[in-house]
Amino acid sequence: MQDILEQLEARREEARMGGGQKRIDSQHAKGKLTARERLELLLDPGSFEEFDMFVKHRSTDFGMDQNHFPGDGVVTGWGTINGRKTFVYAQDFTVFGGSLSETHARKICKVQEMAMKQGAPIIGLNDSGGARIQEGVAALAGYTDVFQNNILASGVVPQISVIMGPSAGGAVYSPALTDFIFMVRDSSYMFLTGPDVLKTVTNEVVTAEELGGATTHTTKSSVADGAFNNDMEALSEIRRLFDFLPLNNRDGVPVRTFFDKHDRIDNSLDTIVPENPNLPYDMHELIHKIADEGDFFEIQAEFAKNILTGFIRMEGQTVGVVANQPMVLAGCIDSDASRKAARFVRFCDCFNIPILTLVDVPGFLPGTSQEFGGVIKHGAKLLYAYGEATVPKVTVITRKAYGGAYCVMAPKHLRGDINYAWPTAQIAVMGSKGAVEILHRKDLGNPDVIAEKTAEYEEMFLSPFRAAERGYIDEVIQPHSTRKRVTRAFAMLKDKQLENPWKKHSNLPL
Ligand code: HXC
Repeated sequence: MQDILEQLEARREEARMGGGQKRIDSQHAKGKLTARERLELLLDPGSFEEFDMFVKHRSTDFGMDQNHFPGDGVVTGWGTINGRKTFVYAQDFTVFGGSLSETHARKICKVQEMAMKQGAPIIGLNDSGGARIQEGVAALAGYTDVFQNNILASGVVPQISVIMGPSAGGAVYSPALTDFIFMVRDSSYMFLTGPDVLKTVTNEVVTAEELGGATTHTTKSSVADGAFNNDMEALSEIRRLFDFLPLNNRDGVPVRTFFDKHDRIDNSLDTIVPENPNLPYDMHELIHKIADEGDFFEIQAEFAKNILTGFIRMEGQTVGVVANQPMVLAGCIDSDASRKAARFVRFCDCFNIPILTLVDVPGFLPGTSQEFGGVIKHGAKLLYAYGEATVPKVTVITRKAYGGAYCVMAPKHLRGDINYAWPTAQIAVMGSKGAVEILHRKDLGNPDVIAEKTAEYEEMFLSPFRAAERGYIDEVIQPHSTRKRVTRAFAMLKDKQLENPWKKHSNLPL
């Protein structure tokens, strides 16, 4: 009996060593942790339960029948993050470069399917050379099975991908189908075709980092939602994000103990909007000042900085925030900002996370590059996302809400539940200069008339009261009481019931 127990421990020990000490040392030398070390940091201590530790691949070609490592290059199972259940997989680069075989894929599919049945998120730590070359189509089939499960799980349980090494070729599509992608700076990259192929086919010379590193994907392509300096920082930030997320699409939004007064007054907000309407201010400041304990987990912080998206808590409950940022492009909405915010709104809506929208937007960004780039369709994505969303929606207009951008940023007309405006709000078709130049073109040579007409226009439209008179604004509030008013609004909206008409699925303008 003792023998059998010892044999089990010996087998486990062999599996835990992955591709062996030499390859583990090489992984460490690149500044990367191993798959098991990563899971230890991601999950609560001692909570990891592993599955399929002894699974071996079944290929026999290219001498593979003589080349086996228990676990086959991916560590799978479940554990907890601050006591809440999650399913996980972590690719083990020390075994065949973390490459995906038929059995490796089966292991991932198993945890994906469990996550869906159990209603718990799935977090994938990716570090892989792609399809296991020796397996040919069996590896491609395995990938596609994983993709299919990603698609079925979408909107059912949150799916998070962390890229902690290579992710090349079609392998990028599993992360791309998940809700969030995070990368590690200098040790991860993602691309469909690598630098060598590019050189041959298009004559372009780029490094892997330039083509698909964290900077590229967080600032240019927007494929990634954030980047961290090393494995440890990445995993601790994923724990932080996880705490904001519901476990599934039926579970309520997590509520945790908070140490902040719900009716905290912040007098500095009364002067945050500069007297000169052309001067910017940092919308981050407002978000931090109204969030519980000033905690804001920003999504896509480095991309389309003219709009901010991320999670805060109000009275302990997760709230998704979308906010124009007057510091960048004066807060104008462009194609990138529309896509970024639309995806975020849709994530919140499918997981029942209430949405707070903070508005200071002079309009859509004009220009041929925007029009040629399809801003009409991209802007429609944001419009669609807000209009489709049935979660509680609270909107605060702090300053400008002009033109089409007013219509897009969660107004009453897109089923906004509570719409507040600060006294500094200006709700109009456009700013005074543009309006007067159009309405009084013939008087452009007469500065006195223009000044008089501008004052008249500003008096009439550049305030929240025209909208409030029509009930498009529920209340004009004091800036210093914003946290109190918004938390009370969300508290009132807790039992909101709203359903869209039955349909197979909607047809978002893609
Ligand atoms: C089998 C692989 C492998 C793969 C790496 N290895 N990639 N084994 N299939 N795809 C093995 C290596 O043989 C080596 O084994 C070990 O992993 C580490 O690889 P190295 O090359 O020594 O490491 P490094 O120098 O860090 O380079 C990593 C790498 C490189 C950049 C990922 O290995 C590489 O280019 N691999 C091939 C990438 C690729 O083209 N994959 C297919 C993409 S197309 P030993 O025994 O020496 O430790 C694809 C299609 C998917 O994935 C389609 C889905 C629809």
